Amino acid sequence: MTARTAARPGEPRLLVRGGRRLSGQVAVSGAKNSALKLMAASLLASGTSVLHNVPDIQDVRTMQEVLEHLGAVVDFADGTMTVDTSAVQSHVAPYELVQRMRASIQIMGPLVARFGEARVAMPGGCNLGPRKIDIHLRGLADMGAKVRSDHGFVEVTAAKLHAIDMFLDYPSVGATESLLMAAVMAEGTTTLENVAREPEIVDLCKFMVSMGADITGAGSSTLKVNGVREMQPAEHTVLGDRIEAGTFLIAGAVTGGEIEVTGISPHVLDLFLSKLRSVGVQIAENTRSIKASGDPASYTTVDVATLPYPGFPTDLQAQMMVLLSIAGGVSVVTENVFENRFGFVDELIRLGADIRVDGNHAVVTGGRSLTGAIVRCPDLRAGAALAVAGLVAEGCTELREVYHIDRGYERFEEKLRGLGAEVERAGSGFDSCA
Ligand code: EPZ
Repeated sequence: MTARTAARPGEPRLLVRGGRRLSGQVAVSGAKNSALKLMAASLLASGTSVLHNVPDIQDVRTMQEVLEHLGAVVDFADGTMTVDTSAVQSHVAPYELVQRMRASIQIMGPLVARFGEARVAMPGGCNLGPRKIDIHLRGLADMGAKVRSDHGFVEVTAAKLHAIDMFLDYPSVGATESLLMAAVMAEGTTTLENVAREPEIVDLCKFMVSMGADITGAGSSTLKVNGVREMQPAEHTVLGDRIEAGTFLIAGAVTGGEIEVTGISPHVLDLFLSKLRSVGVQIAENTRSIKASGDPASYTTVDVATLPYPGFPTDLQAQMMVLLSIAGGVSVVTENVFENRFGFVDELIRLGADIRVDGNHAVVTGGRSLTGAIVRCPDLRAGAALAVAGLVAEGCTELREVYHIDRGYERFEEKLRGLGAEVERAGSGFDSCA
């Protein structure tokens, strides 16, 4: 294995030894991309909301810090979180928290809805692209808010928000959530068209309806919100994480094992599962679980284009690229959601993949046998994909900058070991693959 710049002593790394078939059952955790928004939505009411099936991951801990910074009291243990917002008095999300996790900006809508003001550090870009929030801000301004930006902050103030009819330029997940949370107590009936339809949006709507909101159309492209005077705290169970489920299903497929993910309904992964079937992976579906198995030698090509839900999820693009790298034939992967989501391709090539990137297309020549190497996780989902690649690479793969994985996957290596993987976290000393 060629050495790279030595890891700093104590820097956490994952060591993955390839060649083991993964088999067994794994329960997915609650969805990161729902839990974070439910936590923000709890600000809409004064009192204590209770959330169950909350994943204990870094991003949830960061959002807990954001809420506590605002004055909320948060308790979180064994997957259950209580959020008491009765003493919230600050309306500022500071730079160091937003810079650590851009989803912190999701407190903007609820703070303006309940308190009439929010001051949020502008989220920087990230490895995936500029990550603009223009649709969020345009909608809030149309609802009567004054939007100013200075010194790297966005300040949104409004004596009272009023309903709007808005056609979103793009079905942005975050903008849909911001505008939904702003509209639930706005005067009048808001109609939002061309909204995101992700299952996590449906989960957020369910929670806010249980808080007293009047929302119709959840899961469709048009949401109607009749503003109510006040919201009440509520109790809710976070839906299963479909991206974690897809990650483990691909881990089973590439290692030629048989994996059943539980705590997830298959219909939230329809197109993804049909793409796995096209490759030659056997998929068995039950109401609350999905099983994947197959022989990697029999896998063939399939083209993939990421799109907003119900299209192929961009958060499973990297994991799919690993599967296509070992399947026979040539596949084309097109990334339509983010401007720059092929950052991990160079790392996958270090493991032996044959991929050529041209703009937002990646041409994957399959049939490759991967070999272990030191690789760097450029972002959360790419990190998980590189770990999956390590499971099938000959020898040992050392993943660096694994804090990205810790942001969104609960007990990642423990769950992989439970399926038979040889993976361990090396932090102390210089123990490495060598
Ligand atoms: C959410 O990000 C998820 N994050 C992402 O998951 C996911 O990849 C993405 O939705 C798409 O499904 C969370 O929920 C915390 P978007 P979000 O607004 O809300 C452009 C993961 O790994 N856009 O739908 O930021 C934007 O630049 C993460 O779990 C605007 O132009 O996604 C991007 O190109 C990664 N203006 C595209 O839309 C806006 O005002 C999609 O962004 C807003 C967005």
